[in-house]
Amino acid sequence: MPVLNAYAQLTAEGYFESRVGAGTVVSSTITANTASPQTTNARQGKTAVHGSKFAKPIFLPSFLELGTWQRSRGAFCVGQVSFEEFPFRVWNRLVTRHCRNASENSLNYEDPMGSRQLREAIAVYLRTARGVKCDVEQIMIVNGSQHALAITTRALLSPNDPVWMEEPGYAFARTIFALHNCRIMPVPVDSDGLNVALGIQQCRKARAALVTPSHQYPLGVTMTASRRLQLLDWAERSGAWIIEDDYDSEYRYESMPIASLQGLDRHSRVVYIGTFSKVVFPSLRLGYIVVPSDLVNRFLAVRFAMDLGSGTFHQAVLADFIREGHFSRHIRRMRSLYSERRNILIESIQDELGRQAEVTGAQAGMHLAVTMDGISDREVADRAVHQELWLVPLSTSYAGSHPKQGFVLGFGSIRARDIPAAVRSLRAVLTANRRKTPAARVATTNIVRTAPNAKYV
Ligand SMILES: Cc1ncc(COP(=O)(O)O)c(C=O)c1O
Repeated sequence: MPVLNAYAQLTAEGYFESRVGAGTVVSSTITANTASPQTTNARQGKTAVHGSKFAKPIFLPSFLELGTWQRSRGAFCVGQVSFEEFPFRVWNRLVTRHCRNASENSLNYEDPMGSRQLREAIAVYLRTARGVKCDVEQIMIVNGSQHALAITTRALLSPNDPVWMEEPGYAFARTIFALHNCRIMPVPVDSDGLNVALGIQQCRKARAALVTPSHQYPLGVTMTASRRLQLLDWAERSGAWIIEDDYDSEYRYESMPIASLQGLDRHSRVVYIGTFSKVVFPSLRLGYIVVPSDLVNRFLAVRFAMDLGSGTFHQAVLADFIREGHFSRHIRRMRSLYSERRNILIESIQDELGRQAEVTGAQAGMHLAVTMDGISDREVADRAVHQELWLVPLSTSYAGSHPKQGFVLGFGSIRARDIPAAVRSLRAVLTANRRKTPAARVATTNIVRTAPNAKYV
């Protein structure tokens, strides 16, 4: 019986075939497809000649190649929000409401642009709080800024297109352009933001520029009005696109929020990207693109090809969270909480690290940059993990070969009372590298301009 069963199974799976009067034999399709030893060798030879299966390697952002530090979640983790302050009760109530009310409509495919209610809420928010010129038809819901950038790249750029990137800049964005085989042109950032004149000098014909004008990542400078106008002028004359990544400008501490660059654009050259990672929480994976009106169909076509839209459940929850006022309340509370953390961090850096450290970019967001001479930031970051510190080495934000040394320090998820001790630990790690620590220099705010009619949300 076992032998008969085995024959029957192999026949059913197509390995054997039985012909009446001829018995059961190995299927002729298998014998025909089996290569002789010579063929196999010949194939292997050919493969070897043509190199590996993948002609082009894909690179991880360089800071992920570092040792163990990036796996931990110590003090100064960048991009982390204050989870304990999140209004979980409200959020859970809204989640429950939408679970209970699941309907055929809410379970079906949505418009790939995203939920209408959420897009309407975002349009109102962007017009009043960020000075963005938009209507609801231009807003596409995506899974965070990284996704927004991937869609934008596919919609607007071709392989080999030159793209300006801020130097130093956001390493995760660099990986998207590299994956799409764009030519990355690092353009230096100074205290006025991206140096447009240098960009034009280096590569006038770039097809796009990725910028973080409200709070440059990682140095934190604000792009001045004249640089903004210069950038828009270049884009209009050369037919290039400006991709504005406005990732954390809701939290501004010494003035009203800075108006978006998109609000100044009169020729529809700016694609504006925003995210809920900092103002709600990162695992939500929701963000949006404000697409220039004449490009909406192009972006939509890319979206149909990629994923047919973002998950709808949390879009509905988030729409209620914004419409019922919880979102603006949460931002207001967080702004004062992060402001306190930021002030304590700056004071602690001055007290503990002295002149050795120059602080920049503390006017907004949930991180600041500390530049330091005479250290190897990667080495320090690697060692710091043993002190439960999570440091992003500044040098990893540079594409070129002359990176500044220092760290990007997040203060979103560290409690105010833990900050002085964490900075003391940082000092201890640094002392192992270097002994002298003269008095601190804190860079003054560069420009502070407010959005016309901008309101704190
Ligand atoms: C420059 C920049 N853009 C965007 C983001 C947010 O990315 P996402 O929306 O994909 O979470 C971050 C997060 O730290 C960032 O630093």
